[in-house]
Amino acid sequence: MAGCFVTFEGIDGSGKSTQVALLARELARRGIHHVVTREPGGTPLGRELRALLLDPENAIAPLAEMLLLAADRAQHVEQVIRPALDEGAFVLCDRYVDSSRAYQGAAGVPSEAIEQVNRVATGGLEPDITFVFDIDPGGALPTGGADRFEKRSRDYHAAVREAFLRIAREEPERVVVIRVDGRSPEEIHGIVLRAMARWLE
Ligand code: TMP
Repeated sequence: MAGCFVTFEGIDGSGKSTQVALLARELARRGIHHVVTREPGGTPLGRELRALLLDPENAIAPLAEMLLLAADRAQHVEQVIRPALDEGAFVLCDRYVDSSRAYQGAAGVPSEAIEQVNRVATGGLEPDITFVFDIDPGGALPTGGADRFEKRSRDYHAAVREAFLRIAREEPERVVVIRVDGRSPEEIHGIVLRAMARWLE
């Protein structure tokens, strides 16, 4: 039995982590075996890489950043995602390759490099379905205690948002965009469940 690989994307503050938790709760209620994980930081190595990547004290070149995220992803696919899918589990992953396309692309890394490196890192493993939670960048960013990504400008986050929307236009079969503002978490959760109907039957 093959599992179902679900990824959650969006700019920081879009509420995707809440939606991961709500979907996990629903899968548990239905007795469906599932694994909740995230990038960066879904493995012991990944947690070390996450600390390096988010620390605002670290100067990391865009290409190095892309490669560190790909290292996190290679370890995560090998140790967590593939084994869970092979067992027939649902894998709910908070961020995946689309985050590299959007964030590292917006930081100036050529898309061909991002595609090539990530094809190697994932062995070509793609999500069955991806949700992009869409919110305007202005309201989403925290004011204090920001990490290395959150510290970037509003224009940067606007470019990241545009990149997610572009990916969704390019791959409408895989990517579902859900506009977040004006909707309660429960309402958004309902949209997620409807989009997943064919895997939940
Ligand atoms: P999180 O706060 O959603 O866990 O993500 C941590 C940060 O890592 C977030 O600001 C986006 C960034 N990130 C990338 O830039 N590229 C990636 O491929 C991933 C997975 C995350």
